[in-house]
Amino acid sequence: MPGWGAGPRCWDVVNWFRIARFQSSPAYARMGNLVEVKDVSFAYDVLPVLKGINMVIPRGKVVSIMGLSGCGKTTLLRLIGGSLKPTQGEVRVAGRVMHELTQEELYEMRRKMGMLFQFGALFTDMSTFDNVAFQMREHTGLPESMIRDLTLMKLHAVGLRGAQDLMPSELSGGMARRVALARTVALDPMLIMYDEPFTGLDPISMGVIGNLIRRLNDVLGATSIVVTHDVQESLKIVDYIYFMSDGVVVTEGTPEDIRRSEAPFVHQFVWGEIDGPMPFHYPGSNLAGELGLGSGRA
Ligand SMILES: Nc1ncnc2c1ncn2[C@@H]1O[C@H](COP(=O)(O)OP(=O)(O)OP(=O)(O)O)[C@@H](O)[C@H]1O
Ligand SMILES: [Mg+2]
Repeated sequence: MPGWGAGPRCWDVVNWFRIARFQSSPAYARMGNLVEVKDVSFAYDVLPVLKGINMVIPRGKVVSIMGLSGCGKTTLLRLIGGSLKPTQGEVRVAGRVMHELTQEELYEMRRKMGMLFQFGALFTDMSTFDNVAFQMREHTGLPESMIRDLTLMKLHAVGLRGAQDLMPSELSGGMARRVALARTVALDPMLIMYDEPFTGLDPISMGVIGNLIRRLNDVLGATSIVVTHDVQESLKIVDYIYFMSDGVVVTEGTPEDIRRSEAPFVHQFVWGEIDGPMPFHYPGSNLAGELGLGSGRA
């Protein structure tokens, strides 16, 4: 993706496969957490969004971050990816503090991360094949014949090798999301971040995408973070869940813990109830006051 990498660099293919195999090994899993978010606060200008977040993402696991719209999930992914700096605390990825990296080290780190952006679209003027091959052409010195084989392997993994010549306008929404997944994992990232991967999909396509997220993580020996509103879909595929509200983590646990939770916040979220502790309104002045009515009390 433009602006998400360091420019052309020659990769030793043997080394590449060696890394992927190592990342799948038990020894790699024993190395502990890939991502550690320690007491992180962040504000856009004066608007505090995160207020002391603590999370760990162990190597090899798929972890979900859930919370109401606007609670700061995308902001947290940007902090993990190093495009924002915390106002307090630190984010460590593979042991390195993200906001202490030099520009060059940051690019190097980002080349090991795959990001499926919220509303991230495919390049409309490129074929399915070229969309997936794009990063390999930009960031590796691999010969075109090898890029072709690797691209076909990624498309095969998402079941769309046969659609390689189609343009994005010829794909259904679910197919386009699968191509975006293949593009996200094109460089075999150690960390894959998905921002709302299920949005706008029918239930069957959601299941397909969910299974792919899990399978790609396990086959590549990666570690994944899935930001989503879709509780039911993510409970099926993740190892652990963090619930955020009002800038802090309010609940965390395994899918089993979350299903059993009696906490009103979790119950409201899991069962999609309108009434509960989570407010519908973005904070603002009271309506009557703003409309110039009466005493200004809500
Ligand atoms: N670039 C920005 N400048 C200023 N404020 C921002 C910016 N991006 C996000 N915000 C604000 O920060 C808060 C958190 O936004 P964020 O996009 O992280 O939420 P989110 O949890 O991802 O929401 P959603 O589920 O709707 O995607 C919101 O109140 C939003 O208005
Ligand atoms: Mg978001």
